[in-house]
Amino acid sequence: MPVPVLTIDGPSGAGKGTVSRLAAKRLGWHYLDSGAIYRALGLAAVQAGLDLHDSAGVCGVAAEMQLHFDCGDVFTVRLNGLDVTTQLAGETAGKNASLIAADPAVRQALFQKQMDFRRPPGLVADGRDMGSVVFPDAAYKVFLTASSEQRALRRYKQLKEKGIDANLIQIRSEIEQRDQRDRERAVAPLVAPEGALYLDSSDLSIEQALESVLNLVRGD
Ligand code: C5P
Repeated sequence: MPVPVLTIDGPSGAGKGTVSRLAAKRLGWHYLDSGAIYRALGLAAVQAGLDLHDSAGVCGVAAEMQLHFDCGDVFTVRLNGLDVTTQLAGETAGKNASLIAADPAVRQALFQKQMDFRRPPGLVADGRDMGSVVFPDAAYKVFLTASSEQRALRRYKQLKEKGIDANLIQIRSEIEQRDQRDRERAVAPLVAPEGALYLDSSDLSIEQALESVLNLVRGD
């Protein structure tokens, strides 16, 4: 029996991270934050002094980087032994991730790292191309979205809660630019995978979105 996978794709700020983590907890499954892998690679490349358009250089860093996710009460990411969770949360990390993510060679370099998360008893995979490219055979697929106003507002609150300085208008414009780049890129563009449950969370609470996702897995 293949290990079951629930994919949750969608644009930034739709609530994917929160819903995915809670779903993984409720199901007792592993959790893959693929965005954090792209963000960490962007940071590692900047730290190595690379131009983010240097495809071979960025792929070299991808092969070398040591990433650790801790999905305890607080989700933390360690890059080469150091906690980089806060550094990865900001819009600069998101923008850099989206720049390198448009490169097919970089996506290929990160492919196996993402596949390795598929272990029993199951996996919840959060990203842009989880159901379309990385786990096309996933048993359960969700496309979680929300209006750009709502998404910007949520991102703003998240950053403020983390003590990170933020400007709502700027966040909305950055989110819209990033969406456009993710949707229009030639390789693995952001799309609702075929057969996915389309969930617009603009007027839903986290609990309501989570229930819809869990109902899909339970077959309700
Ligand atoms: O989800 P998150 O905002 O952390 O993702 C950061 C960026 O990484 C996205 O804007 C996207 O360009 C890229 N990404 C991707 N494919 C994924 C996950 C993230 O291209 N599966």
